[in-house]
Amino acid sequence: LRDKYIAAIAAASDEATLEDLRLQAVGKKGEVSLQMRELGKMTAEERQVAGPKLNALKDEINSALAAKKAGLEDAALDERLRSEWLDVTLPSRLRGQGSIHPISQVTEEVTAIFADMGFAVAEGPRIDTDWYNFDALNIPGHHPARAEMDTFYMHRAEGDERPPHVLRTHTSPVQIRSMEKQGAPIRVICPGGVYRADYDQTHTPMFHQVEGLALDKDISMANLKWVLEEFVKAFFEVDDVELRFRASHFPFTEPSAEVDIRCSWEGGTLKVGEGDDWLEILGSGMVHPKVLQAGGIDPNEWQGFAFGMGIDRIAMLKYGIPDLRAFFDSDLRWLRHYGFAS
Ligand code: PHE
Repeated sequence: LRDKYIAAIAAASDEATLEDLRLQAVGKKGEVSLQMRELGKMTAEERQVAGPKLNALKDEINSALAAKKAGLEDAALDERLRSEWLDVTLPSRLRGQGSIHPISQVTEEVTAIFADMGFAVAEGPRIDTDWYNFDALNIPGHHPARAEMDTFYMHRAEGDERPPHVLRTHTSPVQIRSMEKQGAPIRVICPGGVYRADYDQTHTPMFHQVEGLALDKDISMANLKWVLEEFVKAFFEVDDVELRFRASHFPFTEPSAEVDIRCSWEGGTLKVGEGDDWLEILGSGMVHPKVLQAGGIDPNEWQGFAFGMGIDRIAMLKYGIPDLRAFFDSDLRWLRHYGFAS
């Protein structure tokens, strides 16, 4: 009996076989258990010989079973370790890495250049009241500039008496907000998204501007010219620029000027600072006294310049991008072509 079970246990190759053997040998109806039950029918002498033998046999079988079970478990673990290994040194699959949107990159460039000249960044909401977007900027209700700007109006529900809101058509409302917030003197730029109902190769309904505002006791257009020259040189990475102020009209500046830079278009690529062409880059002027008043600033004490420039437009020019709409298509091939993504 002993040899039979010890050999079978050693040969067992899985835990189910082992369990069968256990039941056959030392289970309630196992062979060893049945023999132990026979002890009751024996004489005392016989029992003294057979009892310890049977107990020893039972112990031996139980420990053989336990040892084999542990061996099988070890083997199973080894097998799992062999089959489930992971090569952590394997290079991972390349995942596309996001990059900062080109307009955001250019906005950061522009912001850094003006920061070097002491301009802080101010921001305002993209949805604004028409008071901030128009009235406070000396554009009253009947003014043709309202129609010209192709404004998106937010419609109020019937019975909602709050003043109408618009998607801001320019960053100029942030001039007023900055005046209200910090008073004079001021030196800020205000970059951000603006909206006009317009769509073609050089216009998208959402685009970006950067506003500039400098107020102090004696700021003049000469200061404006210097600031813009420094900006153009830094942004287009040229040593020299020539600026041209063209008389213009904006309700919120007096006098007003549009600013052109001297350039050439050699073989379709823009060269700034040389040539016989002029490129319009922004609108500007001296802040209108009514605008200062609307912002709570005394026009008898303070004066200064403001300008507004299209970020998407100067990005197009700098990087030679023919169609503005591509900025908002999220086409990876396009982004890579212009070096905006890797
Ligand atoms: N807000 C004007 C525009 O969007 C630009 C501008 C800003 C002009 C500040 C003068 C002064 O066209």
